[in-house]
Amino acid sequence: MATLRLGDTAPNFTAQSSIGELNLHEYLGDSWGILFSHPADFTPVCTTELGTTAKYKPEFDKRNVKMIALSVDGVQSHKEWIKDINETQQTEVNFPIIADEDRNVSTLYDMIHPKADNSLTVRSVFIIAPDKTIKLILTYPASTGRNFKELLRVIDSLQLTAYHKVATPANWEQGDDVVVSPAIATEDAKKIFTKGVTEIKPYLRMTPQPNL
Ligand code: BEZ
Repeated sequence: MATLRLGDTAPNFTAQSSIGELNLHEYLGDSWGILFSHPADFTPVCTTELGTTAKYKPEFDKRNVKMIALSVDGVQSHKEWIKDINETQQTEVNFPIIADEDRNVSTLYDMIHPKADNSLTVRSVFIIAPDKTIKLILTYPASTGRNFKELLRVIDSLQLTAYHKVATPANWEQGDDVVVSPAIATEDAKKIFTKGVTEIKPYLRMTPQPNL
């Protein structure tokens, strides 16, 4: 199994899920995607993560992002667990959870790290662009719940790069100035970014966020 890297095509698969059979590429269609794994059903940190994901769905929808969760438990287990998530997190799970009992997807995406746990998945995250290339890979330990605000922030940054040719600086948040791509000459940047370009150094040019 080759290690997945940024820019690789997200391996396609067909798997059972809490909403029925799911083919990754067909399910994503023209959307962005976030595929994220969980160690197991009926575990406390995962329960909070899936509840949070459900609550953030309107924000992911606004950005044309589909969420897909995964654990190595089966469909029936997922369906029972979803009832608990809905009850304890005061939400409705509104995205599929893949039932990767045969570890096919976990193996394709290298989500099992045997020295952390021999059979359960770690907390992996893959952000997939509409052209199916992988744009982000993150791995968290089982004991640390992920920050879904950070995933939204990365999506915003990736979409600014894809659609507006800008990058985002350290700790960037919506509304902050952004970085002009190094590939654009300052003279060209001044024509493209009509809100103005500040040249701090020839390689460090800032502009107001273009899509506001
Ligand atoms: C959890 O989701 O709560 C969890 C799972 C595996 C190890 C530690 C915590």
